[in-house]
Amino acid sequence: MKTAPIPYIAEAGFSVTRHGKPSGPPESWIQLASNESSFAASPAAMEAVRRAIGEIHRYPEPSSSDLRNAIAARYDLPAEQIICGNGSEAVIETIYRCYARPGDEVVFSRYSFIQFRIFAERVGATAVLVDERDYTPDIDALLAAVTAKTKIVLLANPNNPTGTWLPRSEVRRLRDNLRPDIVLVLDAAYAEYAESEDFTAGHELVAGTENVIVTRTFSKAFGLAGLRVGWAHGPLSMIRVLGRMKQIGNVNRLAQTAAIAALGDLAFVNDVVRTTSASRRRCAEALEELGFPSLPSQGNFLCTRFPDAAAVHAFLLGQGIVVRPIEDYGLGDFLRITIGSDGEMDRLIAALKQYRDEKG
Ligand SMILES: Cc1ncc(COP(=O)(O)O)c(C=O)c1O
Repeated sequence: MKTAPIPYIAEAGFSVTRHGKPSGPPESWIQLASNESSFAASPAAMEAVRRAIGEIHRYPEPSSSDLRNAIAARYDLPAEQIICGNGSEAVIETIYRCYARPGDEVVFSRYSFIQFRIFAERVGATAVLVDERDYTPDIDALLAAVTAKTKIVLLANPNNPTGTWLPRSEVRRLRDNLRPDIVLVLDAAYAEYAESEDFTAGHELVAGTENVIVTRTFSKAFGLAGLRVGWAHGPLSMIRVLGRMKQIGNVNRLAQTAAIAALGDLAFVNDVVRTTSASRRRCAEALEELGFPSLPSQGNFLCTRFPDAAAVHAFLLGQGIVVRPIEDYGLGDFLRITIGSDGEMDRLIAALKQYRDEKG
């Protein structure tokens, strides 16, 4: 199915008040709307930023070469096949700008990251939204939606806003059955959180291709959303094309510094992932008991079904708790709830219990 233009394109973006103003003083608000990490950044990253502050009158390293080397060493990838950007969002948009033109088609699942649609609009391409199966991308349907006009296919795994994921075999099947002249973007923004044994971020699927690119971010488990650092690993031919389209010094000096330091403190990230997944399990069970079931999630968030999601959203705002209504994704019966600290989740669960007891 083809989509109509998104009328609110100019408003796209994240902010605590974008979806309504929470009650109470700002310091008491709980921000569970944007899938940021609720567990801060590594102390090593924060210290590195403090140390680098005296150098902010200097431009950043233009192609993030130290950061690319650090990523290459950490993930065992060739540094020349990595490109960094101002968030993975910027990297994905650059892919659109390089490979899609007006009249072209870009194919992805119906409940994909909303920016996939917005980027298509920006380059004048047609977004083709493909029906899912059980709120999970359907590889056969994605492949069936490909036409002679298709230039890019995207798969976010785990997916936002549903949290669902596909096993390695399905991702491989998509790659193996896609025409090699179509760019396949494997968006692995939430890969750190994926615990399933058969999960892959997809780096091994890049080798031997000229069209498969994996995008990653420091915004989630690494806790650097406010600095905007993302990266992609792809074939040299694609990385060269993307490099011609990116701005010089497109990742700022403090962001590069922080990301390098964050990569040096993997114990911190592992701890964030463990804490997030324990909290996600506990929260999903508590909400289920209250009568609010969630989709199975491998992200740092839950996609939870409510009999009246709009009313629950308004009620939570009244308690100073900001979650994400996702009717713009076509999921008006759900709210997307970012996993927070134990204290934050306790407050959320208590508020939802109160809602259920008063209104349910
Ligand atoms: C699926 C997905 N991809 C990409 C991004 C962009 O992340 P960033 O630009 O912060 O790296 C997000 C952000 O929420 C996301 O959910």
